[in-house]
Amino acid sequence: MRVGDSLILFGLFCAWSFLVPSVAIPPQEEPKVTDERTNLATLVKSCRKCHEDVCTEWEGSQHAQSWTDPVFQAAVKDLPDGGDSCARCHAPLEILDTGIGKLPKARKLDRDLGVNCVTCHLSGNEYHGPFDSPGHGGVTGNPAYREPGICLSCHGQPEARKEHDQGTSFLVAKARGANKSCQECHQPEVERKLVTSPTIKEKYTIGVQKVRLHTFTGARRNLVVKGAAELTLKFESTEVVATVTALTGHGLPASHHREVVLVLVQLGADGQELATERKQWRYSDGTALEAGLPTPVRVTLRVGAREVRATLMHHLLPTAGRDALIPQEIATVSGTVP
Ligand code: HEC
Ligand code: HEC
Ligand code: HEC
Ligand code: HEC
Ligand code: HEC
Repeated sequence: MRVGDSLILFGLFCAWSFLVPSVAIPPQEEPKVTDERTNLATLVKSCRKCHEDVCTEWEGSQHAQSWTDPVFQAAVKDLPDGGDSCARCHAPLEILDTGIGKLPKARKLDRDLGVNCVTCHLSGNEYHGPFDSPGHGGVTGNPAYREPGICLSCHGQPEARKEHDQGTSFLVAKARGANKSCQECHQPEVERKLVTSPTIKEKYTIGVQKVRLHTFTGARRNLVVKGAAELTLKFESTEVVATVTALTGHGLPASHHREVVLVLVQLGADGQELATERKQWRYSDGTALEAGLPTPVRVTLRVGAREVRATLMHHLLPTAGRDALIPQEIATVSGTVP
């Protein structure tokens, strides 16, 4: 709502101010909007005054580092356009201005602020979010915040950037019946007030809500990789069958510069290694595991094999800005040969 648009709107604003007198945001505190926000840093910083928890979560996320990320910086530093084409997702203008689900436009200023609160929640001086609330002069709840489309604005644009597309494989899995949203897996649920700063959280009318953390946890936080796929072992006469099923909502690995590796080790009676086999899947060569589809890997048992150990790893591969391979365990199982 553009505060001051009409007397009616002004009246509504006053009514809201009356409910929450000491912390209502006066209209003059709203930033001036030009086609480029000139005071984005101040505005983003100001959210902390009332939304402390959300700000702390976001600051630790890859979205806050989407421009400053050393791997990204190494990739853009020699580009002739200085990364303008990349800024459409790594430092964009408000996504609501181009429309949820559509590729945003590039921001010229304050690129270090990456994908921030304003990128996802503002359109002009209007605030958007999942709930009907009296905040910011009145917000009409928008269900799009609970659906994958908002994420696909940047994570599902294969024509603009095939290397960072979780959307295509997500939609394939969805067509097969997968029904979780990106948020359900990447923004764990929590119950709390929308305003969490200790000094003011009791002053607002909206009570405790089921909301989702702004951690956007992914492979580079290493917290969601364990358990990202199911791994089972079965013995069939002369063979051992390891079956891998990705539990991600999209392909695994989900992006380029990554691989998933299965290592199958056969051990003899004294624990000596008889054979080691490897199978690898990569996003960049189109071999990523499809979400929800079991992939069997068969290996012939060696004479004298007593035990088989299977390890499934996710590797962040070395590239400019990431000197060494980062190994992350997905799952480990072992079985005794019958
Ligand atoms: C990548 C997009 C994105 C960014 C960046 C982002 N948000 Fe959100 N925000 C969301 C989504 C999606 C939801 C809905 C989550 C849910 O279902 O509860 C949401 C919900 C909210 C809510 C209501 C629920 C709650 O947790 O209280 C607030 C308040 C909020 N965001 C504030 C912020 C602030 C402040 C920042 C910056 C520190 C920020 N957001 C950054 C996408 C984003
Ligand atoms: C002066 C306090 C204050 C500041 C500063 C503030 N907010 Fe809020 N915000 C609120 C209140 C109040 C609500 C409504 C929640 C309630 O009433 O419990 C709210 C709700 C929200 C919601 C949820 C809207 C909905 O209904 O789903 C979003 C998103 C949001 N704020 C984003 C931001 C962002 C982004 C910033 C920084 C640019 C910011 N807020 C700064 C007070 C504030
Ligand atoms: C405006 C563009 C944009 C939107 C909208 C967006 N993202 Fe992102 N996201 C990015 C960029 C850019 C990165 C990569 C930053 C980097 O590492 O350089 C990223 C990174 C991530 C990561 C990787 C974190 C890691 O540790 O590896 C996850 C997970 C993620 N986003 C989830 C989401 C979800 C869920 C949504 C929807 C609620 C969403 N994103 C919406 C642009 C966006
Ligand atoms: C359509 C949106 C979009 C555009 C355009 C885009 N990216 Fe990204 N980028 C993403 C998203 C989303 C992620 C996080 C998910 C992922 O890693 O796949 C990401 C992640 C990255 C990463 C982190 C990879 C890693 O291994 O840690 C690098 C580097 C990167 N982008 C470089 C670039 C460069 C360079 C450009 C411009 C030439 C660019 N991107 C353009 C959306 C985009
Ligand atoms: C069923 C749960 C689930 C759903 C649904 C899901 N993801 Fe993921 N996602 C994961 C897991 C687990 C990982 C960690 C393994 C990995 O990095 O490949 C992951 C990884 C990622 C990464 C990090 C890639 C990397 O390697 O840095 C991004 C970005 C991402 N998801 C974005 C999305 C987006 C966008 C959606 C919705 C279109 C989505 N995810 C839906 C579970 C899910």
